[in-house]
Amino acid sequence: MSKKTNTEWKPIRKAVFPVAGLGTRFLPATKVMPKEMLPLVDRPLIQHAFEEAKAAGIEEFIFVTGRQKEMLEEHFDYQPELERTLEARGKYDMIERVRTSEIGESQLFLTRQARPLGLGHAIWCARKLVGDEPFAIMLPDDVILSEKPCLQQMIEQYNETGGNMVAVMDIPREDTPKYGILDVESDNGKMASIKGLVEKPQPEDAPSTLSIIGRYILQPEIFDHLSKFETGAGGEIQITDAMAKLIGSQPFNGLRYDGHRYDCGSRVGFIEANIAFSLQDPEIGHSVQDIIQKHAKEIQSKAA
Ligand code: UTP
Repeated sequence: MSKKTNTEWKPIRKAVFPVAGLGTRFLPATKVMPKEMLPLVDRPLIQHAFEEAKAAGIEEFIFVTGRQKEMLEEHFDYQPELERTLEARGKYDMIERVRTSEIGESQLFLTRQARPLGLGHAIWCARKLVGDEPFAIMLPDDVILSEKPCLQQMIEQYNETGGNMVAVMDIPREDTPKYGILDVESDNGKMASIKGLVEKPQPEDAPSTLSIIGRYILQPEIFDHLSKFETGAGGEIQITDAMAKLIGSQPFNGLRYDGHRYDCGSRVGFIEANIAFSLQDPEIGHSVQDIIQKHAKEIQSKAA
């Protein structure tokens, strides 16, 4: 185990956003438009992830993009014509909204994954931009509704413990083939110390039902393992396999975050997220509640 003390672990300043996937589960919507641009209420998934990272103090945002993904970087540009038009119309509140999607000068960095060979490969593509420091990974598919942003919860914990950290949640055993699963050494109910990781195990082989969701804090040594290009589950280069190789040489913990995670990579999860987020919206929440109640009544009367 590493001899580093807590104060020797470097702070988390950078976050990697892998956005080069094909998004096949949303075809044909994602034939041209990136999955990460699908709107959750009034902002695209990628903006939810960006805002979470920004609120957690991230200073550099690294996008791993691919073909037909230009819209993602353009979304975060300053749009002077749009702002002038809104100003001329007196829509100052809209200008404020538009500005929530601007990434400051010299804070957005882009690299490309030529072929979608898996999440681990996408992260490896960001190695030069990350350099020799720990970093966060944000999967925009996973949107977390919480009082304190999930990444902030993780960074606060990381500042105490150092090492590597993944956000985790308890799942039903039949769902283990969909997730990276922890082999737990010890667990205090909030944090689990990890002694192994398995990507998408069958329920009978899963060492636990604690699964990784799309938020990670990793030390740069992960790139030594990713650069071996070893393929795992689904024939893809998996980040979980590379992480598993770090265990033993560095601390590795799973944090049960406070909040509710929505799987926006699936159609049902995406719809549920839209319902949950719109119910929280001060402008449209009440109308959405009325609509849901109306549909619930219709469903009940059909079933009767
Ligand atoms: P998914 O496993 O959800 O894959 O990727 P996908 O291609 O986006 O979607 P489906 O399964 O075909 O519907 C999780 C995250 O990892 C990124 C995706 O963009 C998404 O943010 N990713 C995945 C990459 O950047 N590159 C890859 O090779 C694979």
